[in-house]
Amino acid sequence: VRAVQFGSYGGPEVLELVEIDEPHAGPGQVRIKVRTLGVNPADWKFRSGSLAAILPRELPMTTGSEAAGTIDEVGEGVEEALLGTDVFGSAIGGAAAEYAVLGSWTAKPPELSFEEVAGYAAATETARRALGYLPLPTGGTLVVNGAAGNVGLAIVQFAVADGFTVVGTAREANHEKLRQLGAIPTTYGDGMIDRIRALCPQGVDGALDVAGNGVLPELIELTGSPEQVVTVADPTGPEQGVLYPRGGGPDRAVGAPAEAVALAAQGRFEMPVRATFPFEQIADAHRLSETGHGLGKIVVVVDQ
Ligand SMILES: NC(=O)c1ccc[n+]([C@@H]2O[C@H](COP(=O)([O-])OP(=O)(O)OC[C@H]3O[C@@H](n4cnc5c(N)ncnc54)[C@H](OP(=O)(O)O)[C@@H]3O)[C@@H](O)[C@H]2O)c1
Repeated sequence: VRAVQFGSYGGPEVLELVEIDEPHAGPGQVRIKVRTLGVNPADWKFRSGSLAAILPRELPMTTGSEAAGTIDEVGEGVEEALLGTDVFGSAIGGAAAEYAVLGSWTAKPPELSFEEVAGYAAATETARRALGYLPLPTGGTLVVNGAAGNVGLAIVQFAVADGFTVVGTAREANHEKLRQLGAIPTTYGDGMIDRIRALCPQGVDGALDVAGNGVLPELIELTGSPEQVVTVADPTGPEQGVLYPRGGGPDRAVGAPAEAVALAAQGRFEMPVRATFPFEQIADAHRLSETGHGLGKIVVVVDQ
């Protein structure tokens, strides 16, 4: 089975196309023939070694944590009727391979492409979980800092569906899409607080930071309290009284991908594809992700 792994930490050039033993579905898991995978910032944070101290992994490591494809093997306790079903979900032991094992999955509806659902699992789970930490009043106002990325777009759309007024920060080039999704866009950088205040005379009830660019003091000022701010990207959060949750714990928002699929069926959720790369060019997908800018999800196509 072909897979993309790294055997030592470093830049995108440490990624290598190699042959590995085929993986098998363990109890409660499924194996898919991978069609697409989503690239997340965590992928290059693992690859560079910057996550090694807090989330140690054995090397060589297969890159990628979410994939979409067709179930071709079910583990103990999983219905055989699922064989042949198109799904997307969270990969255990790496996603960038011809076959990957999923620990959780959601059926892919025929009207969504394998490219689009490649960006659904991680972002929707993070978005719903992050929103759950924030005490917001019914119909309140939420600021999303970093609204144009994979996680930011999922937060925006869930929050709009929940009935909140949503202000999202992004580069001007990404404003039109944010507007289409029901958010009020504004640029980040100097004067951000004043721009948001002008857009929200009613005040700001909560803020979610997805960009991690050091604006927690501004978000605390806007909302009036660190308890009304959550960051998924700024490790200095706790020093400032701001919750900085990690993924993977008991708080996992397991129903979020299915919620996104249901909203998509009503035309209320989408995940734009920022760019697609062939399997052999995953290193370029990492390079693009490492720029930290762009709209939507970076997708790798393993099998057309
Ligand atoms: N803790 C957790 O559980 C968890 C889970 C998933 C992800 N994360 C983290 O969340 C972060 C975002 O992930 P992602 O998948 O959404 O990444 P992404 O798709 O690469 O998006 C990053 C976004 O940040 C925006 N951005 C860059 N500089 C900005 C700034 N100064 N102010 C506001 N926005 C800015 C960019 O938009 P523009 O083009 O508009 O600049 C881009 O769309 C990453 O750090 C990731 O590691 C944490």
